[in-house]
Amino acid sequence: MTRGLGLGVPLSKIAVSKAHGEDSPYFAGWKAYEEDPYNAVSNPTGIIQMGLAENQVSFDLLEDYLEKHPEAFSWGSGNSNFRENALFQDYHGLQAFRKAMATFMEKIRGGRAKFDAERIVLTAGATAGNELLTFILADPGDALLVPTPYYPGFDRDLQWRTGVSIVPVDCRSSNGFQLTLHSLESAYAAATASKLKVKGLLITNPSNPLGTSISRSLLEDIIDFTSEKNIHLISDEIYSGSVFSSAEFVSVAEIAESRRRRHQNCEGVHVIYSLSKDLGLPGFRVGTMYSYNDGVVAAARRMSSFSLVSSQTQKLLAFMLSDEKFSERYINTNRKRLKKRHSAIVDGLKASGIECLKGNAGLFCWMNLGLLLEENSKEGELQLWKKMLREAKVNISPGSSCHCSEPGWFRLCFANMSEKTMEVALRRLTLFASKIKARLELTSTV
Ligand SMILES: Cc1ncc(COP(=O)(O)O)c(C=O)c1O
Repeated sequence: MTRGLGLGVPLSKIAVSKAHGEDSPYFAGWKAYEEDPYNAVSNPTGIIQMGLAENQVSFDLLEDYLEKHPEAFSWGSGNSNFRENALFQDYHGLQAFRKAMATFMEKIRGGRAKFDAERIVLTAGATAGNELLTFILADPGDALLVPTPYYPGFDRDLQWRTGVSIVPVDCRSSNGFQLTLHSLESAYAAATASKLKVKGLLITNPSNPLGTSISRSLLEDIIDFTSEKNIHLISDEIYSGSVFSSAEFVSVAEIAESRRRRHQNCEGVHVIYSLSKDLGLPGFRVGTMYSYNDGVVAAARRMSSFSLVSSQTQKLLAFMLSDEKFSERYINTNRKRLKKRHSAIVDGLKASGIECLKGNAGLFCWMNLGLLLEENSKEGELQLWKKMLREAKVNISPGSSCHCSEPGWFRLCFANMSEKTMEVALRRLTLFASKIKARLELTSTV
């Protein structure tokens, strides 16, 4: 009997591991959308995707710039430009691009934080940056503290291939889901009690899914906590340019800089950034890892070989971001547009009795649908999510997929569609909410 070559030979533990998380409702909702996507003309009863944190509100500014500056992506008059792009690039990345990124990251922070281009390591998006940093800071079996609710992709990025585990730091609605020293201490104590070696804390500032940012005094406390425990602090600041109202954004880099001026060691502080959100370019795969630790920068640079950014992309973006007038105008206009969208959705929901957490950043709002739950549990939340997908034809992310410990919270994205589509989605959501409320009232009076 002949047997197929390799038939039945087991695959690696990583290959068959479920830690990727693609079965979670977060990704399942995307699949449902792909099978029946809404289109005002060709499929007006299709699903509206509000579960994807994509920013399309300022595409016209980028398109307009590129139209006016075709030299940004042309091959030049001869073929030397083509050859420069096509030939081997080492893992340091183009200096012109790292400089442009450093300046852009400073601009977003109002010039209050400085970035040294020599400490910028390029990665294919923040996904690769977060994984790369986890590989460098922790060994398989070690743990990272991550405040909840958190971006569902962290389950994959921090755990799947690294063998590191996430220890959730439970944050609650009673104080607007803010991180507290008390919750940090209890998560740290629980991890060490179960013999886990905690190597770091990862915060997302501004937060996905909350759309809130961390105050300066809390950031100071967080840095003190990590230095007292002698663990690393990773700050994922992918939404730092999408802060659109109230107090200005405080980056961990700003605090690290001022501590360094007072001769305090900040070698445990690392920042992750990417152009996927603020510039709306997730398809370009451009991210950065910034660290105050020479060893981490050197290791990250070596490891970045696995996830480099193509020379062509670096050149195009170096050109565009070095145009300071353009980048400043982009940042300001994008912020104004996000604020307008955010207010429209939050006010529209409020008018139909749905409350959102007060937010000042990001491409989403954190919505409380607790009153619509038939059962106050994770199962009840998933039931409501499925019903909304089926009846309202809107996909949003249930809080449980972000490891939120309180049922009934959902993340609703508003920047990945036109204003018209958002209006349709808002009408569908308010109609759905009133139907569910009426059904619940009916069953409670029967
Ligand atoms: C907090 C956070 N980190 C990382 C990522 C991944 O971003 P990228 O497209 O740059 O890999 C996302 C994307 O949603 C995110 O929200």
